Parts: sequence; C-alpha cells; structure tokens
Amino acid sequence: MKILIINGPNLNLLGKRQPEIYGTVTFEDFLKDLRKEYPGIKINYYQTNHEGSIIDKLQEAENEEYLGIILNPAAYTHTSIAIADTILAMQTPIVEVHISDISKREGFRQISYIADYVTARIMGRGLDGYREAVQFLLDIKDE
Ligand code: DQA
Repeated sequence: MKILIINGPNLNLLGKRQPEIYGTVTFEDFLKDLRKEYPGIKINYYQTNHEGSIIDKLQEAENEEYLGIILNPAAYTHTSIAIADTILAMQTPIVEVHISDISKREGFRQISYIADYVTARIMGRGLDGYREAVQFLLDIKDE
C-alpha cells in the first residue's frame, strides 16, 4: 500500500519560510514522524519548484497504483489550469492540502483551480493536514 505526497514551489523552505504562517518544522522531519506512525504504508515524497514537474509526476503516479495522492501545489494552486487539467484526467484519489487556511488569506490565495476536481480538501491545519489526508485516504479505501 502506498501514498504519494507532492509539494510544490517553496515548500522545500518549510521551517525557514514565514514560520509565523508555515511553522518551524522542516518537511523532512515531519515526514520521518509520519512514516513511523504509518509503518504499513509506503509514503513517497516529491517536492519541486516547477509546474511541469508536478504534472509529470501526477501523470506517472496515475499508472502506479497509489492508494491516493496528497497534493499541495503551493502557489500553482491559484494559477495552474494545466495542473487542474491533469487532475481531471486522473482516477487516483487526490487530497488537496494547504498548511495555511487559504480561504482566510489574500484574495488571490482564495482561488483554487483544482478545488472542484479533487476528492477532498484540507487547509489551515498546519502540517497535521498531511496526516489527516493520509488517514482520509485509508478511510475511503474500504468504502
Ligand atoms: C500554501 C498556500 C499558498 O497560497 C502558498 O503559495 C504556498 C503554500 C499552503 O500550504 O498554505 O506556497 O499552499
């Protein structure tokens, strides 16, 4: 059983970047704990600063029998019709995760081009949102 987490641009800077919004923990440290909590699941992780690389990874993942994909496209959430089109072409469940509550931030962050096409959305829960997304994917697996 495996899950893929994809993080978009600037999320490699977690821990250092605007800690008042995104916290002080690096994603790598968080991931270590998450993997320990779910020893039965292979949690693959991919981070990129490039829009096309997110698309390539999603397309590739569609053929790899993932239980689901946890996707934080970061700023591309608010701009990328291309990523939305990729999701539209997929069957694998996708959970959109945002560390901050984008519905309460600047107007441009309140728009998500992927919102209508994902299986679920989790935002404003900090890094715990990724944990909740893993649990969500496990919960829907048996439905
Ligand atoms: C983010 C919110 C986006 O608006 C922002 O561009 C990010 C991170 C979040 O996780 O809260 O880079 O997706």
